[in-house]
Amino acid sequence: MMMQVRRKELAMAATVTAFVGLVSVSLVSPAQGQVVHPPPAAKGETAGHYYKNVTTATLKVLSPSDFLGAMGVMTAALGYDCSNCHPGAGTDAMDWVTDSNRKKVVARKMVDMVAAINKQNFAGAQAVTCFTCHHGLDLPTTSIQLDKLYGEPPDEKRDIVPVQAGEPPVTQILDEYVTALGGAAKLAAVKSYVATGVSVGYAGVGGNANFQVFAEAPNKRGMWINFPEHPDRGIGAWTFDGTNGYISQPRAYMGVWNLDGSDLLGAKLDAVLGFPQGIKASFPNWRVGPEDVIQGKEVYVVQGSTVGNTLIGTFYFDKQTHLLIRYVRQTPTPIGRVSIQQDFEDYKEVNGVKFPFKYSFLWLDGRFTAEIKEIKVNVPVDAAKLGKPQV
Ligand code: HEC
Ligand code: HEC
Repeated sequence: MMMQVRRKELAMAATVTAFVGLVSVSLVSPAQGQVVHPPPAAKGETAGHYYKNVTTATLKVLSPSDFLGAMGVMTAALGYDCSNCHPGAGTDAMDWVTDSNRKKVVARKMVDMVAAINKQNFAGAQAVTCFTCHHGLDLPTTSIQLDKLYGEPPDEKRDIVPVQAGEPPVTQILDEYVTALGGAAKLAAVKSYVATGVSVGYAGVGGNANFQVFAEAPNKRGMWINFPEHPDRGIGAWTFDGTNGYISQPRAYMGVWNLDGSDLLGAKLDAVLGFPQGIKASFPNWRVGPEDVIQGKEVYVVQGSTVGNTLIGTFYFDKQTHLLIRYVRQTPTPIGRVSIQQDFEDYKEVNGVKFPFKYSFLWLDGRFTAEIKEIKVNVPVDAAKLGKPQV
C-alpha cells in the first residue's frame, strides 16, 4: 500500500491539476542547466497544435490543459505514474515527446480503440474508458477469482448517480446546508475573505507550506502556496478572476498556464462554491441519489450536472449537521472523466458564518491537506491574487 501512495504522490508533480509539485519536473536545457518552460498555450489552442507529438484523433482536439487531464486519467486507470510511459518523468531528464517506450505506443492504440468501441457500440457515448478494462492494472484480468465471487460485493459507483425515490428534494438539502452555515442573510454579507494556514502532504511527502485562499463574491478565487523552507520550489497559484483561470507551477511542466476547456469550467465552479449560496444556480440539472456513508457519517448524495455532462458536481451532506463534507467535480475527456475531490472538516464560525478549517484535496495523481489557522472576512483582496499569477 505504501508503494501505491508513493507512486501516486510522485506522479502528482507533473499534472496540471496537481496541487503542489512535490518533485520538481522541469524542462532543463542541459547546456546551461536552466529550467526552460514551454510558452503558455494560447486561448483556444489545441493539444495537437501545442504539443510536438500528439496525434490521436480524440486527444489532439482537446485544450492543452484538458489533454494533461487525460494523461492523469490514463495514468490512474493503469496504476502507473507518468514515467511508466515517458522516460525520465519526475526528473529533470524527462522526455515527453519520444515514443521510445513501448507502453506509450500501446497506449496511443488504446486511445483509438476506446473511441472505436464507443462509436460502434454506444452511439459515441462514453460508455467504455481505460478504467472499464484496466481497473488500476496495466494488464487487465480476465476471470473472477472465486473467493471474490463469494466475498464482499464490489462497491464501485458509477459517475452519474441514479435518482433515489424517497429522499428529500434537492432544494431542501441545499437550503438546510445554507441554514447550517449561518443562513442566507449572513452568507450574503460575506463579500470577501482571506484564509491563511499551512498545507501538508500525505505520507510525509510534500513538506510544510504556507497556504492562502483569497475569495471575492460572487466568483473570484485565488489559492497560493509557497514553501518557506524551500524557496527554490517557487510559488504555486491557482486563480480564477471571474472570467479566466490560471495555474502557476513554477517547476512543473507548464509554468504559468491558462486554463481552457473543461479545466476552466471546473476552476469557475470552485470559485463560485467559495460562496456557498451560489451552489443552487451553479447547475441546471440536479438529482438526489441513494444515501451513503462517508468517514463514518451518513450523507445525502446530491448531484448537479450541466447539459451534456460537461461538468458534474457531486455533493455529500452530513445528514446530522447538514454541512458539506465532500465535493467531487468531474469533467470529461475522451478516455474517462477527470475527478477532483475536496473534503471539508472542522467547521468553525467566523462573523456568524461557518467555514471549514480543514480541507483535503484528492486528484488523480496526488493528494493534499490544508489546515486553516485564520479566516478574515470582508477584508480588501489584492486583485493580483485573483488574476494571472506574476511569479
Ligand atoms: C499509459 C501511457 C502514458 C502515461 C502513463 C502517461 N502518458 Fe503522456 N502520453 C502518452 C501518449 C500515448 C501520448 C501521445 C498521445 C497522442 O498522440 O494523442 C502522450 C503525450 C504526452 C505529452 C505531449 C508531449 C508532446 O509534446 O508531444 C505530455 C506533455 C504528456 N504526455 C504528459 C504526461 C504526464 C504529465 C503524465 C503523468 C500524469 C503522462 N503523460 C502519463 C501516454 C502516456
Ligand atoms: C476493452 C478493454 C480495454 C480498454 C478499454 C483499454 N485497454 Fe489497455 N489493454 C487491454 C488488454 C486486454 C491489454 C493486455 C493485452 C495483452 O495481454 O497483451 C491492454 C494493455 C494495455 C497496455 C500495455 C500494458 C503492458 O504492460 O503491456 C497499455 C499501456 C494500455 N493497455 C493502455 C490503455 C489505455 C491508456 C487505455 C484507455 C485509453 C486502455 N488501455 C483501454 C484492454 C483494454
